[in-house]
Amino acid sequence: MGVTIIGTGKALPELSVKNEKLAELVETDNQWIIDRTGIESRHISVNEKALDLAVSAAKKALGEIDLDSIGLVIVATVSPDVLVPSMAALVKRELHLSNAVAFDLNTACSGFIYGTWTAEALIKNGMCGNSNTNKINRALVIGVERLSRIVNWEDRGTCILFGDGAGSAVLEYSQEKTGIIGSYVKNYDDVTDCLTCGMQYIKTPFTNEIEHSDMFLKMNGPQVFKFAVTAIEEVMNKVLTDTGVSADEVKYYVPHQANMRIIKTAAQRFKQPLEKFQVNIQNTGNVSAASIPMALADLMSSGKVKSGDKIMIVGFGGGLSAGAILFEA
Ligand code: UT7
Repeated sequence: MGVTIIGTGKALPELSVKNEKLAELVETDNQWIIDRTGIESRHISVNEKALDLAVSAAKKALGEIDLDSIGLVIVATVSPDVLVPSMAALVKRELHLSNAVAFDLNTACSGFIYGTWTAEALIKNGMCGNSNTNKINRALVIGVERLSRIVNWEDRGTCILFGDGAGSAVLEYSQEKTGIIGSYVKNYDDVTDCLTCGMQYIKTPFTNEIEHSDMFLKMNGPQVFKFAVTAIEEVMNKVLTDTGVSADEVKYYVPHQANMRIIKTAAQRFKQPLEKFQVNIQNTGNVSAASIPMALADLMSSGKVKSGDKIMIVGFGGGLSAGAILFEA
């Protein structure tokens, strides 16, 4: 008995922006971006709201699933359309998920891992209506971002990296199958504030000064890069050790799509062929919490995955945060 991922889906904004277009905006060039990141283009929302993307990805993951069986909706995001209501509450309303508890979660690029980790624990432990007799035994986990709205379009160090999109998965608790066999999440203190995004607050009648906060996504790239390669290794090793599964036994890896060089480093450190790693960064850029579920949706719809294949999803990002989940298809 346990929790299995039974559906996945993704949604991208219509507009795809190539590197060459960004070279018209900031001092950069196509080859630098490809060499240093692996990114060739990314999708940027023009008319699509985060809610549109989230709902579209969720519908694909849900397919024909009975909507009354969904007891939980978690949306991982750092770029919601609004702060209140939560994106999860909006998704619940839009999709008429009348039995669902709904909330958002922010662990930046690790958001989908933390969301899946949370959802597994809640539905497994009967916190969202599951029991042997109760049919409310499923959860919807979504990662959605419109990073184009929080990126500094004058900063070449960040604006070339990020994109918009959404990915989603449906989790099911059942007596018959245990899909998720291991998971681990970890927070590391960001003592140097190497990855931040502030907010704009209004001045109150009780203060003389406006609280100045950087509204843009800011990143010390090389420092985050070093964290990323170390954190990936740590969380993946922990899950492999805990489950007694070897790196070779994992059929596919679905890493956060932050930088092709990070993915290659992970493949080298675990002595795995790069072909086992699902990569879509070339067409999406880094879409924070949406990166992993979008890549997972690509893998699951590729026709490659067979029932019982072991798949590891792994993320890292702001917080700092990291985590990995091992499951069987
Ligand atoms: O999703 C959350 C987690 N995020 C990540 O994991 C991102 C991790 N970091 C990275 O992926 C990389 O650090 C970046 C892709 C962000 C940057 O690559 P890098 O190889 O670490 O470059 P750098 O920041 O060390 O910059 C190298 C040079 C600098 O010039 P100088 O000082 O050597 O003259 C930069 O000013 O490249 C310059 N540079 C650029 N040049 C052309 C920085 N950005 C650009 C650019 N185009 N867009």
